[in-house]
Amino acid sequence: MKSYWCLPLLALALLAGCSKDKEMDKILEISSPGGDLQLQFTLTEEGEPVYWARYKDTAILDTSALGFELVDAPSLRTGFEMTDYSTRALNDVWEMPWGEQREVSNHYNELTVEVREMPPPNRRMRLIFRVYDDGFGFRYEVPEQEGLEALEVAEERTEFQLTGNHTAWWIPGDWDIYEHLYNETSISGIDALSKRDHPNLAQTAIPVNAVNTPVTMRTASGLHLSFHEAALTDYAGMTLMVDNDAYKLTSNLVGSERTPYKVKRKLPFHTPWRTVQVSPDAAGLIESNLIVNLNEPNQLGDVEWFKPTKYVGIWWEMHLGKSSWDMASGKHGATTENAKRYIDFAAENNIGAVLVEGWNTGWEHWIGFEDREGVFDFVTPYEDYDLEEVVRYAKEKGVEMIMHHETSAAPRTYEQQLDTAYALMQRLGIHSVKTGYVGKIIPAGEYHHGQWMVNHYRKVLETAAEYEVAVNAHEPIKATGIRRTFPNATSREGLRGQEFNAWSVEGGNPPDHLPTVAFTRMLAGPIDFTPGIFNMKLAPYKEESQINTTLAHQLALYVVIYSPVQMAADLPEHYEDHPAFEFIREVGVDWEQSKVLNGEVGDYVTIARQERGTDRWFLGSITDEQERSLEASLDFLPAGSNYKATIYRDGEGAHWDENPSAFLIESFLVDRSTTLKLDLAPGGGTAVSLEPATAEDEERLQTYR
Ligand code: NOJ
Ligand code: CA
Repeated sequence: MKSYWCLPLLALALLAGCSKDKEMDKILEISSPGGDLQLQFTLTEEGEPVYWARYKDTAILDTSALGFELVDAPSLRTGFEMTDYSTRALNDVWEMPWGEQREVSNHYNELTVEVREMPPPNRRMRLIFRVYDDGFGFRYEVPEQEGLEALEVAEERTEFQLTGNHTAWWIPGDWDIYEHLYNETSISGIDALSKRDHPNLAQTAIPVNAVNTPVTMRTASGLHLSFHEAALTDYAGMTLMVDNDAYKLTSNLVGSERTPYKVKRKLPFHTPWRTVQVSPDAAGLIESNLIVNLNEPNQLGDVEWFKPTKYVGIWWEMHLGKSSWDMASGKHGATTENAKRYIDFAAENNIGAVLVEGWNTGWEHWIGFEDREGVFDFVTPYEDYDLEEVVRYAKEKGVEMIMHHETSAAPRTYEQQLDTAYALMQRLGIHSVKTGYVGKIIPAGEYHHGQWMVNHYRKVLETAAEYEVAVNAHEPIKATGIRRTFPNATSREGLRGQEFNAWSVEGGNPPDHLPTVAFTRMLAGPIDFTPGIFNMKLAPYKEESQINTTLAHQLALYVVIYSPVQMAADLPEHYEDHPAFEFIREVGVDWEQSKVLNGEVGDYVTIARQERGTDRWFLGSITDEQERSLEASLDFLPAGSNYKATIYRDGEGAHWDENPSAFLIESFLVDRSTTLKLDLAPGGGTAVSLEPATAEDEERLQTYR
C-alpha cells in the first residue's frame, strides 16, 4: 500500500470552534492535547479509509486500512467518499470507586469522519478517533440507514502497519484461553501456531498466526507500544493476525462454528475501540489510563457494598492435592470445620474475606465430562458443608464470604440459575463471586472469546449488579476497561495464574513471567493472580513442582500486580508465625495513587502505591532471573514527614531455584529525600511498607543510607 505518512499536511483547523474547509481536505489530522502524538486519516484513490500515526517525529504506524468483510454482501472497504467530519475535545476528571488511583484525567481530542459508498447501496459509516497523550483509540460506527437492518461481519479488516521489526511480547491469539506463557520475539519471529498443542489446557483454539491483546512492543528507538481494545460489548474479541514479512497486524475476530458470521449487530451500532498505547518508556504503559478512559462512565452508581479486600480460601490446598473439590475422593476440602479454620485465620490477620471452592454438589462430574450441562447448581451445598452456619460464623467474626460458581463452561446452565444463585447470595449477605469456565464451551462451536460468550459474561455482570454482587471471573473474556462502566467487574484471571506452579506444566511460570505480565496483561485491567506462596517447594504435596521466584518477590506482587481482591494464596499453616506474613497483613488493596518508578518489559518493574484514605505507601519491585540493583527515590512521600520503612528483601544467597526462601526484614527512618537501593536476587523482589514514623520510631530506628 502507498505510504502517506511523510506527505506534507494540508493545514487543518481541528479544535472545536474552528471553521473547516468546505472543500473537504484530503488528509485530516488530529493531535494529542500535548501535541506529541498525531494521527492522520484519508481516503485512498480507491476510496479506502486509511490512517497512520506519528509520535514526535517518528512514524509509529504507516498507512493502515480500515474496513469490514460481510456475509452475503459486498465488503465495506473501498469506494468511499468523505461526506463530513467534525472535531471535539474533552478535558475531564473522573473518580474510580476503587482502583489504582482515585482520580483519572480524561483528556483527548476527537475526530469523527463520515464516509459513504459512492456506488449503490451507498452505505454509510463513521470513524471516530480519540487521541490522548498516552495513546489513541478509534472505532467504527454504523449509523441507522435506509435499507440496512443489520450487519453480519465475516471479518473486521483493521490494520496496524508497524514501521519496523519491533521486539514483541505476545501470547497466541487463542479463541478459548489466555493461559499461555509470554514469548519475546521480533515481529518476524511471531509463530503462534507452534503453541497449538498445549500440554495442560482443557481447551485451546488457535486458528491462525495471530496474537492476543494486549500485545506490547518496543521499537528500535526505544518507544513502547501496546495494542488492545476497549469497551468490548456485544462483539467478538479481537486477535491480531501477524504478517511476519510486512510487519503488519490485521484484526482477526474470534468466530463461532454455529454462525456464518463472527459478529452480528443491528444498526445502529459501534465496534469496541481499537487502542494503541504509546510511551517513551515501559513504565508509562502501566501508568496509562487509555483503556478505562475509552469506556462509558459508571452505570451502577454507588457500589459501596463492594469493598476491596484481601482474602484467603479453600483453594491452594486443592491445587496441591492436599484436599479435593469433590466429596467422593474422601478428602473434601470444603467442610464446615475447614471453612471455620480459614475464617478464624482471616479474622486474626486483617484479611477481609474467605473463598470456599468445592462447596456445592457436582464436582464428581467436573473435568473431562462431555455432558456438563445441568451438572452444577449454585445453591446446593455438599452435606458436610453447612452453608448457613459458615456464613453465620463469618459474620460473627467480621469476615466476608466469597461465593464460588464453577460453570464448567456450560453458560446456559448458569444463565438459567443466575437469579436463584444471586438471590441466595443476597439473602446471605455475600457480595462477591468467583466464577470459572473450565472446559470447552457448551454448545459446541462457541468459543470463550466470541460474541456469544462476550454477551454471556456481560449478562452475568449485569444480573450480578442487580443483586449487589461483584464478579471475579476465571477463564474470562479479557479485560477491556468495562470496570469503569460496571464497577462490579472487580478482577479476573485471563492469564497463567499462580495455579500453574502447582501443576508442573512446562516447569510452572518462569521468573520473568510477572515482569512481563505487568507490561502486557496488566495493561488490560486487574488480575486475580493469587500471590503470596511462602512454601516455595510445595513440600510435601507437589515436590515435582515449585514456585519460580523468591519469597520476597511473592510479597512484592501485592503492590506490583493490581487487583482490588488480592489473595493470600498459601495454606494458613504456612503463614502462622512466619515473620514475612506481616507484610501481607499490612499491605493495602485500594489506592489513592500509583507510581511506576522504573521497569523494562520482561526484566523488572518497581511500583509504589499510596493506600486510599491513609498516609501509608507500599512499594514492590520484582526482577526476572537476573539479579539487579535498582534505585527507588521516595520523593513521592509528603514533605516534612519522617516515615518508617519496613523492607522485606531477598536474604543472603537468595535465588528463585536454589534458595527461594532466604529473606530479611529491616526497618529504617526515611523521608522524601531518601533513595532506596533495592538489591534483587535472581527471580527476586523487594516489598516495602512506609508509614509515618512515631516518636518511638524516631528514637529507635536508624536513618536509611
Ligand atoms: C480454574 C480456576 O482458575 C481456579 O482458580 C479454580 O480453582 C478452578 N478452575 C476450579 O474452579
Ligand atoms: Ca484458570
